[in-house]
Amino acid sequence: MLPMKTKIAALLADIQQFQAQSKEQVEEFRLKYLSKKGLIHALFDDFKQVPPENRKEMGMLLNELKNKAQEIFDRQSDAFAGDQHHVSQIDTSLPAVEVSGGRHPISIVRRNLNSIFERLGFIIAEGPEIEDDFHNFTALNFPEEHPARDMQDTFFIGKSPDVALRTHTSSVQVRVMEQGKLPIRIIAPGRVFRNEAISARAHCIFHQIEGLYIDKEVSFADLKQTLYFFAREFFGPETRIRFRPSYFPFTEISAEMDVSCNICGGKGCNICKYSGWVEILGCGMVDPNVLEACGIDSKEYSGYAFGMGIERITMMKYQINDLRLFFENDLRFLKQFDQLV
Ligand code: PHE
Repeated sequence: MLPMKTKIAALLADIQQFQAQSKEQVEEFRLKYLSKKGLIHALFDDFKQVPPENRKEMGMLLNELKNKAQEIFDRQSDAFAGDQHHVSQIDTSLPAVEVSGGRHPISIVRRNLNSIFERLGFIIAEGPEIEDDFHNFTALNFPEEHPARDMQDTFFIGKSPDVALRTHTSSVQVRVMEQGKLPIRIIAPGRVFRNEAISARAHCIFHQIEGLYIDKEVSFADLKQTLYFFAREFFGPETRIRFRPSYFPFTEISAEMDVSCNICGGKGCNICKYSGWVEILGCGMVDPNVLEACGIDSKEYSGYAFGMGIERITMMKYQINDLRLFFENDLRFLKQFDQLV
């Protein structure tokens, strides 16, 4: 009987020369070398007779042989599997499958808003939908007993009053300011949640887009100019805007902005309740308390912020009269937006 070492060397030489011409030959290789009745397995049987002092060396050689054979088998069977796949499963001459469906109107408008503000140099920021009290309220200057913290508005998670679904995208302002990289010019589009009864005008989940600009010497005039640009880009070049004084804990001064009704052009109709104006957003100069809570020196820096509901402006733009339509996935509604980008 040949010594084991010679047998291993001979087999190794054999398998290294192996070059399969077909799938069948790969299978023959497997049967001849790798199967239970194969030559390598037989050598493992012989191994039992090897004297203990040679076992270590022989064991190593044997394993090397086995691994090499496996590697050659894998490589060659892969090559043929790929080939077969190509021939039998993908027929590139078939016509493409028709994809039905389109973008949701909220996505269309969100993209549109992103591109309007990106043209002004804003970049998109994101934050978590599950927030803590600090980012959603405290840093934004909400007094301890402010009604917005109340169970009626906020969805709390679990028993802790510190973990809740964000009620507005203003929480993203705080997260960006905290990072301390100035100046800041961001928009933050995203979902928000409020514990409200669902109706044609309100929903417990909706989308907002927040804007924040912080630098040295930012003024209310900058805010007006930005929002004026946005209104004309979004609703059309004839659009007029007006500001009314308002209150938000996190801005001082605060305002609400109306746009001229794009349905009647300001003459008066049932959409604008015959006033010619529709309220679309809240805005103001960032309250110094908010800047300080986020580690920004309010003597050196100032900024403005604004926030609006995406559903609301989408309803105005496309004359949709029921907010619930956005969440029901009724194809008859969604199909009407197929043609828009
Ligand atoms: N966060 C406010 C809201 O949800 C909107 C807002 C944002 C107002 C930024 C002023 C500045 O109603």
